[in-house]
Amino acid sequence: MHALLSHGLPVASSCHGEGVCSKCRVRILAGADNLSPETALETELKARNRIGPEFRISCQTRVMNDIVIDTTYW
Ligand code: FES
Repeated sequence: MHALLSHGLPVASSCHGEGVCSKCRVRILAGADNLSPETALETELKARNRIGPEFRISCQTRVMNDIVIDTTYW
């Protein structure tokens, strides 16, 4: 989420990165291995909101190398 915002890309959010709303989800198109593993909080949030495995909660995910992502609102 911070990486996206720092590059001027909008990120949906109503919890300001607290890992509550799941609105910051992004679909991972390539480079999933370049992301930090899911935390228990992210896994639980995705399960509670029926979010598929192709998505990550951006405010709970660290980017370690190049990735390709998309959202429904870009
Ligand atoms: S901004 Fe709310 S869960 Fe990420």
